[in-house]
Amino acid sequence: MKPLEHFLRFNDLTRDEFEHLFERTRWIKDQFKRYQRYWPLADRTLVMIFEKASTRTRLSFEAGMHQLGGAAIYLNTRDSQLGRGEPVEDAAEVISRMCDVVMIRTFEQDIIERFAAHSRVPVINGLTNEYHPCQTMADIYTYIEHRGSIQGATVAWIGDSNNVCNTWLQAAEVFDFNVHVSTPPGYEVEPERAGCHGTRHYEQFADPMDAARGADLVTTDVWTSMGFEAEDEERRRDFHDWQVDTEMMRAAKPEALFMHCLPAHRGEEVAADVIDGRQSVVWDEAENRMHTQKALLEYLLLGRIEKP
Ligand code: CP
Ligand code: NVA
Repeated sequence: MKPLEHFLRFNDLTRDEFEHLFERTRWIKDQFKRYQRYWPLADRTLVMIFEKASTRTRLSFEAGMHQLGGAAIYLNTRDSQLGRGEPVEDAAEVISRMCDVVMIRTFEQDIIERFAAHSRVPVINGLTNEYHPCQTMADIYTYIEHRGSIQGATVAWIGDSNNVCNTWLQAAEVFDFNVHVSTPPGYEVEPERAGCHGTRHYEQFADPMDAARGADLVTTDVWTSMGFEAEDEERRRDFHDWQVDTEMMRAAKPEALFMHCLPAHRGEEVAADVIDGRQSVVWDEAENRMHTQKALLEYLLLGRIEKP
């Protein structure tokens, strides 16, 4: 049986493991496109626990599990005992006796770490305040699909040093690329919270145009993440100059890609003509959430499958 492994932070997996996952993703995606049945997870059950809203994460995991022959169950904190103060540790003991894998979207990373420590089955981070590893896994796969290896590339992160930014910083260490980060003053990267091992793979820029200059990929995210709504008004003022617009895309390489994990706010963190423009690959990113996560589910439950 495969030893228990969780995916709570991007760097829980090695580059070798990601390369395996991406190889499997290519095959799994191709099967899906050709309507070929692939049911390695027949009779397996995924439980998905949501403490925050979601469209893509829920859909990609639920559809993905179904396509692998398994079942997915949706729980949220509003109508389960999770919202009424049942200890996370108790919930983990119980839930993990009735299913084969758990995905959690919650607030502090500490919650998911505590759950995993008491779980008998693999736990996947579907977004916390600190990280969003499934998103960056799909984004890197998408970059590779469009441009080949990401090693040595420059990724410009414009905006908040949030969960998605932190995960890019971890990914830069795993895949050996560089991140140019530009945040408004007061919102800078906190390396310890980001979970990266140093500053060798990223550089902070006061001016977002400087961060974008020469980049192979420009990416951003909402100014106000879920859980930080009370700061919304202040953030709108602070982030006003951190919008990815056509001028910023012109500072990047001519063939630079634009990514956004979505949902997006046109006219705030990104101009409509950028996200809807020719360099944008946001719909591929969203679709690849499902294909990469199917490879992840296969790997966490069955281990390495070298050949179909
Ligand atoms: N990008 C992402 O995780 O989207 P959802 O919030 O819709 O799941
Ligand atoms: N940073 C965003 C990502 C949403 C997918 C949030 O946490 O709300």
